[in-house]
Amino acid sequence: MKVTIFGTGYVGLVTGACLAEMGNHVLCVDIDAAKVERLKHGEIPIYEPGLESIVRRNHAGGRLEFTTDAASAIAHGELIFIAVGTPPDEDGSADLKYVLAVARSIGQHLDRYAVVVNKSTVPVGTADRVREAVASELAGRQVAVEFDVVSNPEFLKEGAAVEDCLRPDRIIVGASSERAVAVLRKLYAPFNRNHERMVVMDERSAELTKYAANAMLATKISFMNEIANIAERVGADVELVRQGIGSDPRIGYHFIYPGAGYGGSCFPKDVQALERTAHNHGYEARLLGAVEAVNRQQKTKLFELISRHFDGRLAGRTIALWGLAFKPNTDDMREASSRELMEALWGAGAKVRAFDPEARQETHRLYGERDDLVLCEHAEDALQGADVLAVVTEWKAFRSPDFSAIRAALAEPAIFDGRNLYDPATVEEAGLAYYGIGRGRSLRIQ
Ligand code: UDX
Repeated sequence: MKVTIFGTGYVGLVTGACLAEMGNHVLCVDIDAAKVERLKHGEIPIYEPGLESIVRRNHAGGRLEFTTDAASAIAHGELIFIAVGTPPDEDGSADLKYVLAVARSIGQHLDRYAVVVNKSTVPVGTADRVREAVASELAGRQVAVEFDVVSNPEFLKEGAAVEDCLRPDRIIVGASSERAVAVLRKLYAPFNRNHERMVVMDERSAELTKYAANAMLATKISFMNEIANIAERVGADVELVRQGIGSDPRIGYHFIYPGAGYGGSCFPKDVQALERTAHNHGYEARLLGAVEAVNRQQKTKLFELISRHFDGRLAGRTIALWGLAFKPNTDDMREASSRELMEALWGAGAKVRAFDPEARQETHRLYGERDDLVLCEHAEDALQGADVLAVVTEWKAFRSPDFSAIRAALAEPAIFDGRNLYDPATVEEAGLAYYGIGRGRSLRIQ
């Protein structure tokens, strides 16, 4: 099928590449000419496992092309995806200016039936606004072209986006037209594997499904962080509690890992946006507000532990930091807990020596050259001349370090384990102090 995708950001590029991989002819359009040029040369602007090879292969095969020309892109697709950004505005609502600009542009150029597919995470009711924007431009041109608008939210995880896209758990399609549903069924048929993955509903339910999924996941995390905060006060170990409750299939083992707070481009933004949507409809979503508040507090946790360890005297100290990205397998620093920690340490006069397998360049882009930040090439380098070590992101490479080497390198051997990667007893036997999240049994927290 012929597919057009507006936006070559994270969602647009992954979706475009995966649809091309399934044999469709995909044309991706972006207003950023430099980015389009780079994509044509197989340069991928983001780090995402597997993406580069799938983009290159399909581009070489002629199934994946890039352009800045909206008119020819609209002429191309029987399906036109909108996958442009929806940044939060000041009050936390998603800003729809890019989405609606694409909708208007579609209305200005469309000359035959097409299905407009909303992929961006957008507030409930956006499909209607997109429909109005397309229709009003068509009316202005006095052309009678039929079109449908469908909501088809993505559920990609960074670091596993290609895999999630090629092998989805479910494909949510919000549509009110049989004709549009038939077009999407055809497009997604190769993704079904053993059973039907497409769940068809109305547009508003599809839009809310996306927010509900992310809010539920964020709630699980904040809930566990709250239990961790209780655990450390009552002298329990949240890691044991986690295993104890996860074995109940109604709770499950996934997404109940306590830690230094959730980050990324989705959870913080989507929880706030859903809270705002509820508020705008006269409902105060107290649970969502609490999820957000617990997370904000959790992001200060590592700093508090470190500060307490040094009795508040952090000036002149050097902290080794392992992990900068908001989670492993990405270079994304958006809302990363490491940023909260570094900024608080700098504010208290401490220096940071940091290592991350992928996010060093991004950290440099965000903070530039500064005396109190050294970005190290290796995890071991970050330890040299440091007082203590804080682990913020659970990269696999940090899972089983040589604790005696860490102890030898640190001036005041202590590990602040922001993701509960280590067994407190093992760390302590190696001669280091151990601080985790919610691990009251090591009793250093109180
Ligand atoms: C998320 C959703 O998982 C995905 O379905 C949606 O499409 C986009 O948002 P992503 O932002 O890539 O994906 O990250 P995810 O893997 O969900 O992790 C988000 C944050 O939660 C990370 O900071 C991670 O460290 C934290 N987290 C996750 C925990 O603290 N504990 C957990 O148990 C799980």
